[in-house]
Amino acid sequence: MPLAKPADTAAPLHPPLRARWSPRAFSPRPVPSAALRTLFEAARWAPSSGNNQPWRFVVATIDGEPEAHARLVGCLNEGNRRWAFRAPVLVFACTKLTIERPDRPPRDNAHAWYDLGQAVAHLSVQATADGLFIHQMAGFDAAAARAACGVPEGFDVVTAVAIGYFGDVEDLDEDLQVRERASRGRRVAGESVWRGRWDDRATWTWDDGAA
Ligand SMILES: Cc1cc2nc3c(=O)[nH]c(=O)nc-3n(C[C@H](O)[C@H](O)[C@H](O)COP(=O)(O)O)c2cc1C
Repeated sequence: MPLAKPADTAAPLHPPLRARWSPRAFSPRPVPSAALRTLFEAARWAPSSGNNQPWRFVVATIDGEPEAHARLVGCLNEGNRRWAFRAPVLVFACTKLTIERPDRPPRDNAHAWYDLGQAVAHLSVQATADGLFIHQMAGFDAAAARAACGVPEGFDVVTAVAIGYFGDVEDLDEDLQVRERASRGRRVAGESVWRGRWDDRATWTWDDGAA
């Protein structure tokens, strides 16, 4: 059974949003391509500024593209490599930095990173609903990832993403086992949402809205 670490929420959430968390204990069990198709379909239908869909994903599965999978592992920093090598699916999530229209010169897409993040967020919720786990990583060498995956100029490699089924916590190094079992936390509700003007706390974020 996967380790459950449901969010301690200040309001009821859609079940996969509450259940999602970022594990390190991945099972090497392969993820069927139909399940992967569903995940990237969730990403595909994310909203984006101007419907520009700047996201691109380089996906390497341990069974389908073992050499590419090993190359991707090699781009991760040591702290991530220690656990992510077991994830049967590794992804480099990239984004296109410019908007090109046939009738206009190319211009910068100020929302390229935002839109990629939203696509991965959709993927993460779909994954949780389907019994899969994902763990995003900023800890990798972006230049090495660009070279390893042949990412062209004009695109940024933004995050690595490990995808798979939950594995065995005992397979992790001891320090990672402790982190894996640690509780999850967030800033208290009400410290991020203002009412009308910065610093005027939106009290309805943590109580029944009476204030
Ligand atoms: C853009 C991004 C980069 C991250 N980079 C790493 C990373 O390099 N290594 C890691 O172990 N976790 C990484 N994480 C996972 C976060 O640490 C994790 O989402 C956060 O602690 C909240 O935990 P939760 O996802 O279990 O709720 C990253 C998450 C995001 C969204």
